[in-house]
Formats: sequence, structure tokens, C-alpha cells
Amino acid sequence: MIAAPLQLGPLRLASNLLLAPIAGYCDLAFRTIVREWSTHPGGVGIGVGLACTDLLSPQGLLRGTSSSLDLAATNDFDKPVGMQLYGSDPEIMAQGARWAVEHGSTLVDINMGCPVDKVTKKDGGSKLLTDLNRAVSIAARVVKELEACSLSPEEWSRRLGNASLPVPAARLPVPLTCKMRLCWSDADYHAGTACSPHLARMLADVGVVGVTVHGRTTEMKFSGEVQLAGIARVVESVNGQIPVIGNGDVREAPDAVRMIRETGCAGVMIGRGALSTPWLFRDAWALQATGITPPPPPECEIIESVRRYLNLMVQYRGEHYAMVQIRRRMTWFAKRLMTTDSRGRIVGVKPLKEAIRNAQTPSEVSVRLDEFLAGGLRGGAYEPEAAEA
Ligand SMILES: Cc1cc2nc3c(=O)[nH]c(=O)nc-3n(C[C@H](O)[C@H](O)[C@H](O)COP(=O)(O)O)c2cc1C
Repeated sequence: MIAAPLQLGPLRLASNLLLAPIAGYCDLAFRTIVREWSTHPGGVGIGVGLACTDLLSPQGLLRGTSSSLDLAATNDFDKPVGMQLYGSDPEIMAQGARWAVEHGSTLVDINMGCPVDKVTKKDGGSKLLTDLNRAVSIAARVVKELEACSLSPEEWSRRLGNASLPVPAARLPVPLTCKMRLCWSDADYHAGTACSPHLARMLADVGVVGVTVHGRTTEMKFSGEVQLAGIARVVESVNGQIPVIGNGDVREAPDAVRMIRETGCAGVMIGRGALSTPWLFRDAWALQATGITPPPPPECEIIESVRRYLNLMVQYRGEHYAMVQIRRRMTWFAKRLMTTDSRGRIVGVKPLKEAIRNAQTPSEVSVRLDEFLAGGLRGGAYEPEAAEA
């Protein structure tokens, strides 16, 4: 069995599985759902070890803009939690990190992988892979700031949020991780000159406690297949100095095990797979711990989870936000809701998705979910890849 909890600096997680930041998706309501599925009785009581906020603008946090504050919202159940910052100015990133510590984060992460123009045009995200000195100077400055606002053991206990996790005995800083891609260009990757192995070592030398590597180049964006060999090169390069967390294309529990086996990574971060399968962490940990993947949850439990997710969004962000989200999110949940008819053919849930898209209020969504549970709103072809980001 390969189940080994991940150690990130002073932080020992319950598992080696992390929920990825996915801008526009991994809000407090969704992180709560993922945490709830983790302790679902179908598994062994453990699932996600750490969940991360979507990327946050330090300027937005420092100015207190409502959109940034909404994205950074957390609570006592939502622990341990990483807050991810993006940007290119070491001083502003340091102030953002201090803000994160003062507002409940258990870990701070720097985004060095985002390929989106809005971020890279301002030299943030994966643009940092083209300027390693800047990337390292940001990390070094943030580490220094985190050291200046270390947490007491009592505060650590709150930030861990799980009674079974060991609490540091002395004042210790919140740890810093960085999330990167293999490198910017495909040509560099194929020539064997990807910067990630080198960058990971430099980051470890300035006090970063772990790196996540999405096994694609920036130029690949989300196309092609994740390059496990590229992640393995980073693992080899850091040579145990810090843990490497592999990321990319984990959709089923065996994908996580394969990533660990083929790359030697110490942890696995899961993004899109969790959007359709929020119980994937339960499955991936159970598979590692027992060799057996639990059976999928029954349809009625998936529907109750959708309802709970909707209610949490209403509670945290209000009805308008909840309705906008549930309409787009239903496509992801629907991936696990198809059934088979009496002749063994796959039956999709297009009518349910349409009914929810047309619903005007959360209570109307709830009525549609009940109709589905009663056997209605089924039919149409199953559309497996309709919602890939
Ligand atoms: C819509 C979308 C938004 C994303 N937002 C972020 C983000 O805010 N920060 C980040 O580090 N990565 C972000 N990512 C990348 C994911 O965290 C992850 O690295 C990538 O999706 C590969 O992992 P997966 O195949 O498990 O999804 C995003 C990906 C998608 C599809």
C-alpha cells in the first residue's frame, strides 16, 4: 500500500491528496462538499488532505474588494486550507501573504502556472517560468514575511481543523508552496530543458516547503496529455529536499496511484476530476490504503450532495450567485448521473440539465432534483466531454 500522509513543512496532512484551485469553481461551498465526501462511510474516513482557494489578487485582498474577499472566504470546517496568490511584485505578494495568514490560511501558495493572458500579461502566473530570478525573489520575500507572522500552537490547532493532526509545539510560520507547470514552451520541454526541475530546487533553497507540478507546458494550456515523465524529472531533481505534488488529468482513483508510481511524487492534486466526482479523494485514498476502490455512491446521495451544494452557495454568497453557479455546474455533476435503460444502453440526463438551466429559484431547482429522483427528467444521449474546461 502506498498511502502516506503528506508533510509540508510543519504541516502534516491527513492524506497525500489536495484539491486544486480552479478559478470560478473551488469556492467555500465546493470545498465544503469535497471535505464532506472525504469522510463518507463508503471510504476509510479520509480523503482530501488540503483544499486550496482559487487564485487571489493580493491587491484585491489588500483593498478589500468584495470579489476578492468572497473568493478568500473560509471557516473553521474549511481546514486545512491553502490560499493561492498571483502576481509579480515581491512586496505586494508579501503583503498578500500576511493578509492570508491574518484571515485564516493554513498554507500560502504562489501561482506560477496560470496560462491565462490576463495574468501572464502582468508577468504573473506561468510568466514567472520565463524569469526564474523573479520567481525565486518573490518566494524568498514571501517566506520572510511569513516568518514574521508565525502562529502560536493554539492558532495552529484552529488552522488544522482536524483533531487527529499533530499540532506544532512552538510558534511556527505558515508554510509556502508554489504551483508551476513544466515550463513555458513545448520546444524546451521536448529538448529536455524544462525549467521546473531547476526552479523547484531554487525554491526549496529559499524555504518553499513543497511544489506542485501540473505536467503540461504553458503552451499546451489544457490540451494533450499530462507528461508524467516531466513531473518525475522534478521529483528526481529535488532529491527528497521537499515533496513534489503531481497534478494533471487524475479523473479516477487509479490515475492517482499511477501518478505516484510513475513519478515518485509525494502527493497528488486533483482539479477537474473533483468537479464531476467530489468523492474522488475518498476513492483515491481508500485505493491507496486498502487496494480497493469503494463503489460509486448511489444516485440519491449524489443528488442530495447537489442540493447541499446549492444550499451552501445560497448561504455563503446569496441566491443570484447560487443560481448562476448551479446552472453551469450541473453539466459536471451530470457526468456521474447517467443511467442504463432496460436494454443496457446509457441514458443521459439532458432533461435534468435543461430543467435546472431554466429554473429561476433554488426551490425550483430542488423540485427538479426531486422529480429526477422520482424517475423523471432522464433521457438524451450521454455527453461525456461536453464540459471539459
Ligand atoms: C477553469 C480552470 C481554472 C483554473 N484556475 C486555477 C487557479 O486559479 N490557480 C491554479 O493554480 N490553477 C488553476 N487551474 C489549473 C488547475 O489547478 C490544474 O492545475 C489543472 O486543471 C490540471 O489538473 P486537473 O487535470 O486535475 O484539472 C485552473 C484550471 C481550470 C480548468
